[in-house]
Amino acid sequence: MDLKQHINTDKLPAHVALIMDGNGRWAKQRGKERIFGHENGVEAVRDTVKAAADIGVQYLTLFAFSTENWCRPHLEVETLMDLLIQAIGNETPELHKNGVRLQAIGDLESLPELCREKLEEAIKLTANNTKLVVTVALSYSARWEIVNAAKKIAEKVASKTIHPDQIDEEMVHSVMETASLPDPDLLIRTSGELRLSNFLLWQVAYTELYFTPVYWPDFRRQHFFQAIIDYQRRERRFGKLDNKVAVTKNNF
Ligand code: IPE
Ligand code: IPE
Ligand code: MG
Repeated sequence: MDLKQHINTDKLPAHVALIMDGNGRWAKQRGKERIFGHENGVEAVRDTVKAAADIGVQYLTLFAFSTENWCRPHLEVETLMDLLIQAIGNETPELHKNGVRLQAIGDLESLPELCREKLEEAIKLTANNTKLVVTVALSYSARWEIVNAAKKIAEKVASKTIHPDQIDEEMVHSVMETASLPDPDLLIRTSGELRLSNFLLWQVAYTELYFTPVYWPDFRRQHFFQAIIDYQRRERRFGKLDNKVAVTKNNF
């Protein structure tokens, strides 16, 4: 049965963020090297992007490589970067055909040159697409992003472009890597880990969190749809009271 039919298209999350985790353990279960897991993760990305576009999600943000991931063994990092270059090359024509706009956030300067070039090419090619914005977080960490944002604001103050009193949430948002994106409505993490691992810490203030034990290489459209259905059953209150709760409170 396709879970798609249980999704309420009037209540879709506009922005879904995804921590794609569990590639190494998936490979280990099969007696293979970790990179085998990363290779098999590409199919999961393909299926998830298609699923998001299929139901009309507008923004999908994928955590692909963290600042901290640079500290993994050299061979794993190098092979991951090669895989990334290959995946961007292979996947971009199909993404473009399907109206997907590709973006990237993170310290892109730190990526190998070929990787940056391929990425820039894909970003440029897909710049006018509007069906779905896919943002890949590469060499990204939320604390790195927040430190950079603080520096940008400090520079504006130092040059007297702004007064400290003018700093508000909107301004902070505007200097974040995700300035062009709304905050995520839903964040999915695969592999059973119950943590955020330095991902979008500023942006997830009121994001609904969904954790699944599925390892990333096994993640498919039905898992994605299951997360959306779970999200749609929740009541987002943003610290306020809904009508029912408010009435009960007033009665006491
Ligand atoms: C996620 O899978 C991919 C990256 C972090 C690059 P992992 O490589 O973290 O796999 P596990 O968590 O060790 O199983
Ligand atoms: C988070 O996964 C980063 C990505 C998925 C790219 P990690 O595997 O690096 O996170 P930890 O080490 O389990 O917290
Ligand atoms: Mg991991």
